[in-house]
Order: sequence, then C-alpha cells, then structure tokens
Amino acid sequence: MLPETGLPEVAFAGRSNVGKSSAINALLNRKAAARVSRTPGRTQHINLFEVDAALCFADLPGYGFARVPAPVQQKWKASIERYLGEREALCLVVVLVDSRRDAQELDRGLIEGLQDAGLPTIVVATKIDKLSKSKQKPQLSRLAKGLDVPREDLLVLSSTKNVGVGAVWKRIRRACANWKPPTSEEPPTSEEVT
Ligand code: GTP
Ligand code: MG
Repeated sequence: MLPETGLPEVAFAGRSNVGKSSAINALLNRKAAARVSRTPGRTQHINLFEVDAALCFADLPGYGFARVPAPVQQKWKASIERYLGEREALCLVVVLVDSRRDAQELDRGLIEGLQDAGLPTIVVATKIDKLSKSKQKPQLSRLAKGLDVPREDLLVLSSTKNVGVGAVWKRIRRACANWKPPTSEEPPTSEEVT
C-alpha cells in the first residue's frame, strides 16, 4: 500500500527504459533520487518522492518490455492501472515517449485511457539529445500526429543535457496549483442541505 501524503501527486508513466526515473532526477536536479538503469524493468514498484513538502512525484514501473516474464508484466500492469484509477491525490500524469520512435500502440492506449478518465495529462518526448537538430521537427510532428495529441502539447526533454526541464516544471506547477485535496467527509445529503 502506498502511503497517503496529503500532497498533490504527479505520476511518470511510460514504456520501460523511456527515461522516467531520469526525468524525475533531472526535475529534482539530483543525480540519483530515482534509480536509473540501462536494463529495462529497473523500476519494479511505485516509488514516491516528496518535493519541498509541496508535491509528490510517483515513479511508475515501465510497461511493454518483452524480456519481463508475462505474469510479472501482468502484475505491473494491474498495479499501474489500479494506481491511475484510484489515486485521489493524482493531479497530473506525465506520459513519456521516446522521441526517436514513432507512436506506439501501448502509449496511444494509455493516453486515450487517461483522457477518457478525465485525468490531466501531458506527453513528453524524451532523449531529445539523441535526435539530430534537423530530424527533430519532422519527427516530433509525426509523433504528435501518431499519438493524436496537438503538436504544442508534446513537450521535449533531455534529462542528460538538461533540456526542457523548465517547461515541464511549468506544466507541473500549473496542475498542482489547480489541485484541491480530496475531502474525507461524505457530501451532505439533500435533507441536510435543506
Ligand atoms: P524503467 O524503470 O526500466 O521503466 O526505465 P525508466 O523509464 O525509468 O528509464 P531510466 O530513467 O532508468 O533510463 C533508461 C536509460 O536511458 C538509462 O541508461 C538512462 O541513462 C538513459 N536516458 C534517460 N534519459 C535520457 C536522456 O534524456 N538522454 C539520454 N541520452 N539518455 C537518457
Ligand atoms: Mg525507472
């Protein structure tokens, strides 16, 4: 069970190895808050990072990595879905996709599911440092189109070169500012209101 922190929570979701843990470290300006690895499947549980007693980052396990045994994949999938569906403190989901790859079915499905659930979502294309300047524009347009998100809503990030960190923070701050803590009390019945 994840602890309740009473703080707005920002979740980082995406395929294995896309750079979720690295993104958290870059945003926190720390080298090793979240565990980073070249081996996909490094993050196996949901890890919470409290930021300045103001908000929390949730590092989610990655999905879609073929070498993780199917039963383990199923368990991760279930725990990610449960978290996204039930976590009351969730104020933003940052979906990370690899800037060098075209839109993937799993990513599109996740984005669609989040939109259907009415969860505020941003999409961030990672590892932009690995894409040559000349390729960036056409590749990002194609990726946005494939994911069915407006081009201006597709942010870019390089966690290693510290590119795009400010823009992602801006969206995180905006989402957290709009967040209200869930009330533990039941809403009044119509009899109590009249
Ligand atoms: P799982 O926990 O396995 O789902 O992976 P993850 O999404 O948390 O990825 P992680 O942050 O562990 O990064 C995976 C690999 O990509 C590591 O070798 C990182 O150093 C590398 N990486 C992450 N972000 C960037 C980036 O912006 N640029 C470059 N060049 N490499 C990156
Ligand atoms: Mg990770």
